Amino acid sequence: MQKRKLGKNGPDVPALGLGCMGMSISYGEPNDEESIATMHRAIELGANLLVTSDAYGSGVNEELVGKAIKGRRDKVLIGTKFGNVGLGGGVPEGLSGGHPDYVPMACDKSLKRLGVDVIDIYGLHRVDAKVPIEDTVGAMKRLVEQGKVRHLVLSEAGPDTLRRAHKVHPIAAVETEYSLWSRDVENDVLPACRELGIAFMAYAPLGRGFLTATIKTLDALLPKDRRRDHPRFDPENIKKNNELLKTIEDIAAAKQCTPAQVALAWVLAQGEDIIPIPGTKRRKYLEQNCAAIDVKLSSAEIETLKKAFPLGVTAGTRYPEKQMKALGI
Ligand SMILES: NC(=O)c1ccc[n+]([C@@H]2O[C@H](COP(=O)([O-])OP(=O)(O)OC[C@H]3O[C@@H](n4cnc5c(N)ncnc54)[C@H](OP(=O)(O)O)[C@@H]3O)[C@@H](O)[C@H]2O)c1
Repeated sequence: MQKRKLGKNGPDVPALGLGCMGMSISYGEPNDEESIATMHRAIELGANLLVTSDAYGSGVNEELVGKAIKGRRDKVLIGTKFGNVGLGGGVPEGLSGGHPDYVPMACDKSLKRLGVDVIDIYGLHRVDAKVPIEDTVGAMKRLVEQGKVRHLVLSEAGPDTLRRAHKVHPIAAVETEYSLWSRDVENDVLPACRELGIAFMAYAPLGRGFLTATIKTLDALLPKDRRRDHPRFDPENIKKNNELLKTIEDIAAAKQCTPAQVALAWVLAQGEDIIPIPGTKRRKYLEQNCAAIDVKLSSAEIETLKKAFPLGVTAGTRYPEKQMKALGI
């Protein structure tokens, strides 16, 4: 697997990581056996950056990752996060997700669930509007000094927050949504990352599965699938969004690859500083996603895709209204 750098002075990471969220929550039925096999296959293929959060099933996903990496610690890079209290996680009364007293508590719990002494990449899952970012990152910096975490990440942070945080301690990467149908980071976050030498971990690079062209109606989703609450998957919006898929499907057919691979190849082509972290709980999809590295889009194809997916073209916001408020702070 090709490597990319996690920030100007950061470690080498695989060009493509594995998002583990959907193994425990949000998408379909969990299948721990296949999920663990998928993580093991990712390690074999060199896509050994496993990304989780304490919020995914209130620690359940971290425990699953911990189980999978037992005996393989030296072969993986673990990325986890804290502070997305809207998704669960149990913040004691009087504290909040980014409170400096809460940060070490969250970290100790993650270390325990993962069964490791140190977390390679530790992220603030959502910026806490009630706490100055300097205080939250100050507490994260102390974790680095104590040897409990190695590199710091902010998820869904706005450019000003990023600049302020980076003064307290180098931020290795921003972890925010980026794909053909979620290009808004190109306006401000991505330029700020480039100005500061911060890498970009592109989450949901497959548009939460939509860009694979396998979810054209809600019938493709189980009744409890969380995407049913996402405005972009609303029945009217999904109908409009389906019209966007033709360009991806045409390019996939011409290149004899899958739409998922075209969507990933496009993200990979946006810069050496971008590390997509597609999520799957199946070895079959993981192998296909890793092979996207060898799908080279021509500059004409990249432009055609950009034109087919201009900024703001997607019908529906990427989260329900309440969750949108926690983004870009
Ligand atoms: N920082 C944040 O706030 C945040 C938010 C969301 C996600 N994330 C991270 O980003 C990771 C990836 O995002 P995501 O999982 O939400 O979205 P995604 O990677 O865009 O899409 C995942 C969906 O696509 C399906 N899929 C994957 N590969 C496929 C293929 N080759 N063909 C057909 N379908 C395929 C998966 O199916 P199966 O599940 O059936 O395998 C799953 O339903 C997550 O796991 C999580 O670690 C971070």
